[in-house]
Amino acid sequence: MKELSLHILDIAENSIRANATEIYIEVDEDIDNNIFSFEIKDNGKGMDKEFVESVKDPFKTSRTTRRVGLGIPLLEAACKRCNGDVKITSSLNKGTQIKAWMDYDHIDRAPLGDIVSTITNLILANPDIDFIYCHKYNDKSFELDTKEIKNVLDGVPINDLGIINWIKNYIKDELTEIKQ
Ligand SMILES: Nc1ncnc2c1ncn2[C@@H]1O[C@H](COP(=O)(O)OP(=O)(O)OP(=O)(O)O)[C@@H](O)[C@H]1O
Ligand SMILES: [Mg+2]
Repeated sequence: MKELSLHILDIAENSIRANATEIYIEVDEDIDNNIFSFEIKDNGKGMDKEFVESVKDPFKTSRTTRRVGLGIPLLEAACKRCNGDVKITSSLNKGTQIKAWMDYDHIDRAPLGDIVSTITNLILANPDIDFIYCHKYNDKSFELDTKEIKNVLDGVPINDLGIINWIKNYIKDELTEIKQ
Protein backbone atom coordinates (compact mmCIF):
# COMPACT_ATOMS: atom_id res chain seq x y z
CA MET A 1 0.00 0.00 0.00
CA LYS A 2 1.21 3.44 -0.83
CA GLU A 3 0.24 5.05 2.46
CA LEU A 4 0.33 3.85 6.05
CA SER A 5 -3.06 5.45 6.74
CA LEU A 6 -4.55 2.83 4.39
CA HIS A 7 -3.06 0.07 6.53
CA ILE A 8 -4.55 1.79 9.59
CA LEU A 9 -7.93 1.89 7.84
CA ASP A 10 -7.70 -1.80 6.98
CA ILE A 11 -6.85 -2.80 10.54
CA ALA A 12 -9.64 -0.61 11.93
CA GLU A 13 -12.07 -2.23 9.47
CA ASN A 14 -11.12 -5.60 10.95
CA SER A 15 -12.14 -4.22 14.36
CA ILE A 16 -15.45 -3.00 12.96
CA ARG A 17 -16.11 -6.40 11.38
CA ALA A 18 -15.33 -7.96 14.79
CA ASN A 19 -18.25 -5.94 16.22
CA ALA A 20 -16.13 -3.63 18.34
CA THR A 21 -17.98 -0.82 20.07
CA GLU A 22 -14.78 0.99 21.02
CA ILE A 23 -11.67 1.36 18.88
CA TYR A 24 -8.47 3.02 20.06
CA ILE A 25 -6.09 4.23 17.35
CA GLU A 26 -2.66 5.56 18.25
CA VAL A 27 -0.08 6.89 15.82
CA ASP A 28 3.38 7.56 17.20
CA GLU A 29 5.93 9.49 15.17
CA ASP A 30 8.97 9.12 17.38
CA ILE A 31 11.53 10.80 15.18
CA ASP A 32 14.00 11.25 18.05
CA ASN A 33 14.25 7.46 18.35
CA ASN A 34 13.70 6.82 14.62
CA ILE A 35 10.55 4.77 15.20
CA PHE A 36 7.23 5.09 13.41
CA SER A 37 4.58 2.98 15.09
CA PHE A 38 0.85 2.63 15.40
CA GLU A 39 -1.50 0.63 17.52
CA ILE A 40 -5.14 -0.33 17.11
CA LYS A 41 -7.00 -1.77 20.04
CA ASP A 42 -10.62 -2.91 20.04
CA ASN A 43 -13.16 -4.59 22.29
CA GLY A 44 -14.49 -6.82 19.52
CA LYS A 45 -14.98 -10.55 19.43
CA GLY A 46 -11.27 -11.35 19.50
CA MET A 47 -9.49 -14.43 18.25
CA ASP A 48 -8.36 -17.56 20.03
CA LYS A 49 -4.68 -18.36 20.43
CA GLU A 50 -4.53 -20.75 17.53
CA PHE A 51 -6.20 -18.29 15.16
CA VAL A 52 -3.88 -15.44 16.17
CA GLU A 53 -0.89 -17.61 15.40
CA SER A 54 -2.15 -18.38 11.93
CA VAL A 55 -3.57 -14.96 11.06
CA LYS A 56 -0.32 -13.75 9.52
CA ASP A 57 -0.69 -16.59 7.03
CA PRO A 58 -2.71 -15.22 4.09
CA PHE A 59 -4.40 -18.55 3.49
CA LYS A 60 -6.13 -18.33 6.83
CA THR A 61 -9.20 -16.14 7.05
CA SER A 62 -12.67 -16.44 8.53
CA ARG A 63 -14.20 -14.74 5.50
CA THR A 64 -16.40 -16.96 3.42
CA THR A 65 -16.59 -14.65 0.40
CA ARG A 66 -12.87 -14.72 -0.23
CA ARG A 67 -10.32 -17.31 0.72
CA VAL A 68 -7.42 -15.06 1.58
CA GLY A 69 -7.21 -12.15 3.97
CA LEU A 70 -4.39 -9.84 3.06
CA GLY A 71 -4.68 -6.92 5.47
CA ILE A 72 -2.43 -8.22 8.21
CA PRO A 73 0.11 -10.02 5.94
CA LEU A 74 0.54 -6.85 3.85
CA LEU A 75 1.06 -4.75 6.95
CA GLU A 76 3.55 -7.26 8.29
CA ALA A 77 5.48 -7.18 5.01
CA ALA A 78 5.53 -3.36 5.03
CA CYS A 79 6.90 -3.33 8.59
CA LYS A 80 9.50 -6.04 8.05
CA ARG A 81 10.78 -4.27 4.95
CA CYS A 82 11.59 -1.33 7.23
CA ASN A 83 13.25 -3.22 10.11
CA GLY A 84 10.00 -3.52 12.04
CA ASP A 85 7.27 -6.03 12.77
CA VAL A 86 3.68 -6.53 13.83
CA LYS A 87 2.52 -7.87 17.17
CA ILE A 88 -1.01 -9.19 17.63
CA THR A 89 -2.48 -9.73 21.07
CA SER A 90 -6.02 -11.02 21.25
CA SER A 91 -8.36 -12.82 23.54
CA LEU A 92 -11.68 -14.32 22.65
CA ASN A 93 -14.71 -12.16 23.56
CA LYS A 94 -12.44 -9.47 24.98
CA GLY A 95 -10.70 -7.79 22.08
CA THR A 96 -7.63 -7.40 19.99
CA GLN A 97 -4.56 -5.20 19.96
CA ILE A 98 -2.36 -4.83 16.91
CA LYS A 99 0.91 -3.00 17.16
CA ALA A 100 3.02 -2.19 14.11
CA TRP A 101 6.40 -0.49 14.02
CA MET A 102 9.18 0.37 11.59
CA ASP A 103 12.21 2.60 11.16
CA TYR A 104 11.06 6.17 10.70
CA ASP A 105 13.75 7.11 8.21
CA HIS A 106 13.77 3.86 6.21
CA ILE A 107 13.87 4.51 2.49
CA ASP A 108 11.06 1.98 1.93
CA ARG A 109 8.74 3.42 4.58
CA ALA A 110 5.52 4.64 3.01
CA PRO A 111 4.34 8.09 4.04
CA LEU A 112 1.54 8.31 6.60
CA GLY A 113 -0.82 9.75 4.01
CA ASP A 114 -4.16 11.38 4.76
CA ILE A 115 -4.72 10.28 8.36
CA VAL A 116 -7.18 13.15 8.90
CA SER A 117 -9.57 11.75 6.28
CA THR A 118 -9.01 8.19 7.47
CA ILE A 119 -10.09 9.04 11.01
CA THR A 120 -12.99 11.32 10.04
CA ASN A 121 -14.32 8.80 7.51
CA LEU A 122 -14.26 6.06 10.14
CA ILE A 123 -16.28 8.28 12.48
CA LEU A 124 -18.65 9.34 9.69
CA ALA A 125 -19.36 5.77 8.59
CA ASN A 126 -19.60 4.30 12.11
CA PRO A 127 -21.43 6.79 14.33
CA ASP A 128 -22.29 4.14 16.92
CA ILE A 129 -18.69 3.12 17.49
CA ASP A 130 -16.60 5.11 19.94
CA PHE A 131 -13.22 6.07 18.54
CA ILE A 132 -10.28 7.32 20.51
CA TYR A 133 -7.54 8.72 18.33
CA CYS A 134 -4.20 9.62 19.83
CA HIS A 135 -1.37 11.09 17.81
CA LYS A 136 2.11 11.47 19.23
CA TYR A 137 4.95 13.41 17.69
CA ASN A 138 8.16 13.11 19.70
CA ASP A 139 7.17 14.37 23.16
CA LYS A 140 3.99 16.10 22.05
CA SER A 141 0.59 14.50 21.62
CA PHE A 142 -3.12 15.06 21.35
CA GLU A 143 -6.19 12.88 21.74
CA LEU A 144 -9.68 12.91 20.31
CA ASP A 145 -12.41 10.88 22.02
CA THR A 146 -15.74 10.67 20.22
CA LYS A 147 -17.44 9.70 23.48
CA GLU A 148 -16.56 13.13 24.87
CA ILE A 149 -17.81 14.83 21.71
CA LYS A 150 -21.07 12.86 21.80
CA ASN A 151 -21.60 13.95 25.42
CA VAL A 152 -21.66 17.63 24.48
CA LEU A 153 -23.59 17.19 21.21
CA ASP A 154 -26.92 17.13 22.98
CA GLY A 155 -28.68 14.84 20.53
CA VAL A 156 -27.04 16.06 17.33
CA PRO A 157 -25.66 12.96 15.59
CA ILE A 158 -21.87 12.78 15.42
CA ASN A 159 -22.04 12.06 11.69
CA ASP A 160 -23.81 15.37 11.05
CA LEU A 161 -21.71 16.95 8.33
CA GLY A 162 -21.16 20.13 10.33
CA ILE A 163 -19.80 18.10 13.24
CA ILE A 164 -17.65 15.96 10.95
CA ASN A 165 -16.17 19.09 9.43
CA TRP A 166 -15.45 20.47 12.87
CA ILE A 167 -13.70 17.20 13.83
CA LYS A 168 -11.70 17.28 10.61
CA ASN A 169 -10.48 20.82 11.24
CA TYR A 170 -9.81 20.08 14.89
CA ILE A 171 -7.55 17.13 14.02
CA LYS A 172 -5.81 19.17 11.32
CA ASP A 173 -5.11 22.03 13.73
CA GLU A 174 -3.91 19.76 16.51
CA LEU A 175 -1.58 17.88 14.14
CA THR A 176 -0.08 21.16 12.97
CA GLU A 177 0.32 22.22 16.59
CA ILE A 178 2.16 19.08 17.80
CA LYS A 179 4.41 19.06 14.73
CA GLN A 180 5.60 22.63 15.27
N1 LIG B 1 -9.54 -6.98 15.32
C1 LIG B 1 -9.90 -8.24 15.01
N2 LIG B 1 -10.79 -8.90 15.78
C2 LIG B 1 -11.16 -10.18 15.48
N3 LIG B 1 -10.69 -10.87 14.42
C3 LIG B 1 -9.79 -10.25 13.62
C4 LIG B 1 -9.35 -8.91 13.86
N4 LIG B 1 -8.46 -8.57 12.90
C5 LIG B 1 -8.36 -9.64 12.09
N5 LIG B 1 -9.16 -10.65 12.51
C6 LIG B 1 -9.29 -11.97 11.88
O1 LIG B 1 -8.16 -12.19 11.06
C7 LIG B 1 -8.53 -12.40 9.72
C8 LIG B 1 -7.47 -11.84 8.80
O2 LIG B 1 -7.48 -10.40 8.78
P1 LIG B 1 -6.88 -9.63 7.54
O3 LIG B 1 -7.06 -8.18 7.72
O4 LIG B 1 -5.48 -10.12 7.30
O5 LIG B 1 -7.73 -10.16 6.31
P2 LIG B 1 -9.30 -9.89 6.03
O6 LIG B 1 -9.80 -8.76 6.85
O7 LIG B 1 -9.99 -11.22 6.18
O8 LIG B 1 -9.30 -9.52 4.49
P3 LIG B 1 -8.76 -8.13 3.85
O9 LIG B 1 -8.10 -7.35 4.95
O10 LIG B 1 -7.79 -8.56 2.80
O11 LIG B 1 -9.97 -7.46 3.34
C9 LIG B 1 -9.89 -11.74 9.58
O12 LIG B 1 -10.65 -12.33 8.56
C10 LIG B 1 -10.51 -12.01 10.96
O13 LIG B 1 -11.06 -13.31 11.02
MG1 LIG C 1 -8.62 -6.87 6.94
